[in-house]
Formats: sequence, C-alpha cells, structure tokens
Amino acid sequence: MDGKKSHWENVYETKPADSVSWFQPHADQSLKIIESSGLGKKVSLIDVGGGASTLVDDLLDRGYDDVSVLDLSASALKVAQTRLGTKADKVKWLVGDITSIELPANAYDIWHDRAVFHFLTDEKDRHAYVEQVMRSVRPNGLVIVATFAEDGPEKCSGLPVMRYNAETLHHEFGDEFELLGKEKEVHHTPFGTDQQFIYCYCRKP
Ligand SMILES: C[S@@+](CC[C@H](N)C(=O)[O-])C[C@H]1O[C@@H](n2cnc3c(N)ncnc32)[C@H](O)[C@@H]1O
Repeated sequence: MDGKKSHWENVYETKPADSVSWFQPHADQSLKIIESSGLGKKVSLIDVGGGASTLVDDLLDRGYDDVSVLDLSASALKVAQTRLGTKADKVKWLVGDITSIELPANAYDIWHDRAVFHFLTDEKDRHAYVEQVMRSVRPNGLVIVATFAEDGPEKCSGLPVMRYNAETLHHEFGDEFELLGKEKEVHHTPFGTDQQFIYCYCRKP
C-alpha cells in the first residue's frame, strides 16, 4: 500500500468519523450549490474523495438517485456504507486515487470535491485531476471544488495542502471552465477551531 493510501486508511480505522477536523453534520454549502444549480435531481453526481461525508445521505434523502462516492480509502467508504444501511445499495462506491483511477467517460453531470484537490501539491497530479474532469464530466456539467482558502490552515490531516482563492482555483482548471460562483465558508471543526474554505463552481466546457 502506498504512503498516501495507508495514511487515509489509518485515519478512518482509528478515528470516529465525527471527530476528524473536516467533519460536518451536513454539507450545507455543497447542498446549497447543488440544489440551486437548476440541474434537477435526475443527474449523475460523483463525490470525489467523499470519505465518510454525510453528503450522500442528504442527497439520497432529497431524491438524488444516481450518486457515486469515490475515495482512496475503503475504510472511509465502509463507515458511510454502515451508516446508510440498506440505502448504501443505491450508491456506486469507487475505491481509488482520483489522479489515476479509470472513470467512465462523459458520465457525470455534477462533480463534487470538498477538501481533496488541495492535497495535490504536485503539478502533475493537479493536471491528472483536471484531465479526469475533462473526460468523465459531461459537457456543461457542474464542477464544484472546495479547498482551504488563502487564510486557511497550511495542513489538513497532518498533510501539507495548497491554499487558493477563487481566481487561483479557477485558474487550475482554465478559462474554458466558466466560473459560475464562489463562496467562502468558515468551517467549525469538532474541536472548536475555525477553518476558512473557498468553494468554487464552474461549468465544464
Ligand atoms: C479532508 S477529507 C474530506 C472528506 C470529505 N470530502 C468531506 O468533506 O467530509 C479528504 C478525503 O479525500 C480522500 N483522498 C485523499 N487523497 C485522495 C486521492 N488522491 N484520491 C481519492 N481520494 C483521496 C481521503 O481518503 C479523505 O477521505
């Protein structure tokens, strides 16, 4: 197992999912962007690096029935599957590294990533990530990426991260992606600290 994967497997095997810094009882900002996109509920959505996030629970409850959750850590997905019980059968679960996994072409209307892209400190990996978006998101699809903001922490889960503002984050994808909106969010961690996030959402060319 490579170092990156073993790091994340270890996190989810040793810490309760609601005790990690990125835990949110509900992914409200993401839900707001998805629901106000005007794309409706008959969309195919992938949560990239979804981990044990409750976003999938809330999407299923709201009637989204084509949801995929991808993560490097099988243990993370196991936490979400156990929590969902029989509802987990409605979800496509994908274990793999977003920079190298083979995703179906033109498959998704909505791509969602909260706190994954910012771990890609190597330009080669960021390039591979954008290539995945280009291949697997349908034309005019919605791409939502949330990272630590410029005034956010320098590390996440003990790993170094890149910090962005809306312009620098949009720049990683390129001008052909139409910037639809940006939101700053202060995330309150379970241990009482604040983390500044930037959410950037674009339309794929
Ligand atoms: C900070 S957590 C955020 C989890 C979730 N998006 C949320 O908001 O609760 C980062 C997640 O990304 C996953 N991850 C990290 N690097 C990844 C990669 N290269 N490919 C796929 N998943 C990755 C980790 O296993 C972890 O679940």
